[in-house]
Amino acid sequence: MPREIITVQAGQCGNSIGSQFWPQLCQEHGISQDGNLEDFATEGGDRKDVFFYQSDDTRYIPRAILIDLEPRVLNGIQTGPYKNIYNPENFFVGKNGVGAANNWGDGYQTGELVHEEVMEMIDREADGSDSLEGFMMLHSIAGGTGSGLGSFLLERLNDRFPKKIIQTYSVFPDTQNDNVVVHPYNSLLSMRRLTQNADSVVVLDNGALSRIAADRLHVQEPSFQQTNQLVSTVMSASTTPLRYPGYMHNDLVSIVASLIPTPRCHFLMTSYTPFTGANVEQAKTVRKTTVLDVMRRLLQPKNRMVSTIPGKKSCYISILNVIQGDVDPTDVHKSLLRIRERKLATFIPWGPASIQVALTKKSPYIPMNHRVSGLMLANHTSIATLFKRIVRHYDTMRKRNAFMEGYKKTAPFADNLNEFDEAKEVVTDLIAEYEAAENADYLNPEGDQAAGEAGDKRVTNLKMSNQQQSKAD
Ligand code: GTP
Ligand code: MG
Repeated sequence: MPREIITVQAGQCGNSIGSQFWPQLCQEHGISQDGNLEDFATEGGDRKDVFFYQSDDTRYIPRAILIDLEPRVLNGIQTGPYKNIYNPENFFVGKNGVGAANNWGDGYQTGELVHEEVMEMIDREADGSDSLEGFMMLHSIAGGTGSGLGSFLLERLNDRFPKKIIQTYSVFPDTQNDNVVVHPYNSLLSMRRLTQNADSVVVLDNGALSRIAADRLHVQEPSFQQTNQLVSTVMSASTTPLRYPGYMHNDLVSIVASLIPTPRCHFLMTSYTPFTGANVEQAKTVRKTTVLDVMRRLLQPKNRMVSTIPGKKSCYISILNVIQGDVDPTDVHKSLLRIRERKLATFIPWGPASIQVALTKKSPYIPMNHRVSGLMLANHTSIATLFKRIVRHYDTMRKRNAFMEGYKKTAPFADNLNEFDEAKEVVTDLIAEYEAAENADYLNPEGDQAAGEAGDKRVTNLKMSNQQQSKAD
């Protein structure tokens, strides 16, 4: 039984990433640019129906909804080499075509106006699947559409499909050097929805993506196309367990449950190695790819696609390594022992200190330049330092009331600015949650009663997290 996933791409960034993700999936599954299976694609063993369905004439069509409030990126997709794979009914372009002007409030208020039409598209896709597992949203949180309209849709999806998993791939701004001046406002407001309305958020930030692309490609300022290739590779690797299923981690719920023991701490970081050849052109080759080397590199902070500043107490809550290629399971076992002996990864004191591994097949249709490649999905407490940076930048701007006029003109802020204060409170609580997770008594804090209640709440959360399994129904 397929466990289908519907992808919702919102805004420039979300659709640009999608425009690289879908061709990559097509190539991996041997689907041609017109949606037909290539003659050579006879291997089988893959599950195309998680991300694609078949049209009347048996062409494969992505389960994707493409939304933007300005037409440029979607026009590019509709005239590009893969234009024929998409269902033309699944494109939504805003009526006046002007975008949300990097204003979360604008995107959110447009959400109110257009959501019926968009939800109808989503319902149609949901009705077309046998056993829908959930949704994947692709967007950036710094602009107006992906962040504001994206936030609105997260709320609606959560309301309408309470039992389905909602995972997002969220591109955070480069906090040092972003072209959107008001990114701290938009990011903070989106963070509230990512915290309250998503089950799992894969965090990628443009600062880290540019640094990694620049390192690997030896270019000063990588283009979005180059950074999106990294994102697309991460998305492809993190969905291989679903598309080439083995015995474990073969649906989204089991991946989410293994990484997220307490539901609020659901922000994940990723590393991938090696980025070369087919992944990123012109990249320098890496010398050796044994399982141990791959796992070791995955743990190096410089390979993380999120800019965080680990503190003394920072630790992993969980790790899932998706290892692809020609791998002997005993090598995996030995590598795990070695990593433990060398204490290469510090885990939370209140849970199992173990790296989980999913060994998956690679596409037989794409030549491999390396024997082994790996993706790490990790839940690490240092992600809170990224959120702290957002709050700090937000505070600085808010104190000066900078650029507030544009927001006051939109519906969420027409009467007051409570939306900002509430979002800040949610994000501040989230930061405190990650900090508490670094302590041994996180699940059962002793001492005053309030702390005891917090512990009870977390244990309840833990139970809820186990119940996420029931979302599999
Ligand atoms: P509006 O244009 O304001 O309606 O919203 P939008 O969602 O279309 O905005 P956009 O996606 O352009 O969001 C701006 C943020 O996304 C900034 O941080 C940009 O640096 C980043 N961004 C835009 N396009 C891309 C992309 O293709 N790749 C990556 N990695 N980041 C992008
Ligand atoms: Mg835009």
